Amino acid sequence: MTVANGAGTSHPPRYAQITGWASCVPEKVLTNEALARAVDTTDDWIVSHTGIKERHVVAGERETTAVLAARAGRDALLKAGLRASQLDLIIVATATPEYVFPSTASLVQDALGAASAGAFDLSAGCSGFIYALTMGTAAVRSGTAEHVLLIGAETLSRITDWTDRNTCVLFGDGAGAVVVSASDARCGVLATELGSDGSGGDLLILPAGGSRQPASLETVSNGGHFIKMNGREVYRFATTVMPRAAQNVTRKAGWELEEVSLFVPHQANTRIIESAAKRLSLPMDKFFVNLDRYGNTSAASIPIALAEAVTAGRVHEGDKVVLVGFGAGLTWAAAAVEWGAPPPPTTKTWFGRLLARLGFVFAGLRSWVIRSERHAYNWAMGPVGKDDWRGRLRKRIDVWRHNLRQ
Ligand code: ACO
Repeated sequence: MTVANGAGTSHPPRYAQITGWASCVPEKVLTNEALARAVDTTDDWIVSHTGIKERHVVAGERETTAVLAARAGRDALLKAGLRASQLDLIIVATATPEYVFPSTASLVQDALGAASAGAFDLSAGCSGFIYALTMGTAAVRSGTAEHVLLIGAETLSRITDWTDRNTCVLFGDGAGAVVVSASDARCGVLATELGSDGSGGDLLILPAGGSRQPASLETVSNGGHFIKMNGREVYRFATTVMPRAAQNVTRKAGWELEEVSLFVPHQANTRIIESAAKRLSLPMDKFFVNLDRYGNTSAASIPIALAEAVTAGRVHEGDKVVLVGFGAGLTWAAAAVEWGAPPPPTTKTWFGRLLARLGFVFAGLRSWVIRSERHAYNWAMGPVGKDDWRGRLRKRIDVWRHNLRQ
């Protein structure tokens, strides 16, 4: 990513328009009935207390956070009519990254072949996607980036205690993505609101696996690598901050609440969304709800819901849309988005679309070739710093390769 924001010069305002959107969920569906066979719960209890009927969960080692994120990211790019090489930045919001490091965003960058993009992960619980959208918007509006890919992706089933009925009925897996691009027209993300209250960090926590409690036999045997949640306290927090954040961001955008066509809230619990609607004195049909089919997919829930809402024809050019979420941290976030005109797609023809898809296949091949070449070179040249003929030859080749890349 190159920075060219022309500090000190005056430019017409740039806006950050959402030009691509997509979602991806694993095929495997886990119904309430199936859960009721495993833990002491019922479909009735889950539906009446949460609104959730089923959720998607990953199956096997090949479905991971990065895989879901890359698929959603690829489809959002296709929708935006962009090539991965045009991206300047990729941010993945997740509480279930592929590894502590490298970042999931870097793995997505490699999978998509986004050779010019910077990449990093962002941790803000279920509010993470709106935090990422805020960062991406700032990068675009400041001139630091032209096109940014923002992804919320989770495999919460991997950190769920499937014997704990208090939490295992709530969560699901999936990924959602949007592309934000620079635009001269006043549209896109017009205002955001971010908040945090770290004093509530212990209310929703994955206690072990970080630097405070590194993984050990003890952390594994006492369930420290599973989600721990004080549901009632989180519920109380959510029903307070959701309406407040929605109200604040609407005011910042210069809108009246009644002008908002659609609210896309974090999909945790229908009762939380109903409570927010009531506090804002708005009808429930202004709130997009799909948690009955996906459960709470944390940072992925808002982009999945947004992509579905747009695909279902619930969002049109000129519509005022508010995204609002809350989550671990504790955190909350909201964004006011004015939906822009669809950009002219660069991959309009079937041939253009085929080329774009081939580009993603090529990205996978490119990554494989680079890795294989690195392994083969290291095997042939031996370890770095050895003072034999191979070590000396390696030193010369390394300098030559370095100069070639400059
Ligand atoms: N099936 C049957 N009974 C259950 C289940 C279950 N799956 N889970 C809990 N119960 C029982 C409890 O044990 C309790 O029994 P008790 O009274 O004998 O102790 C009873 O049901 C009522 O429990 P409550 O906790 O009062 O239930 P509540 O109505 O508050 O609903 C819920 C619980 C759904 C978890 C709710 O508190 C909630 O949605 N909280 C917010 C959670 C949330 O949104 N978390 C995600 C945050 S975002 C993120 O960053 C991941």
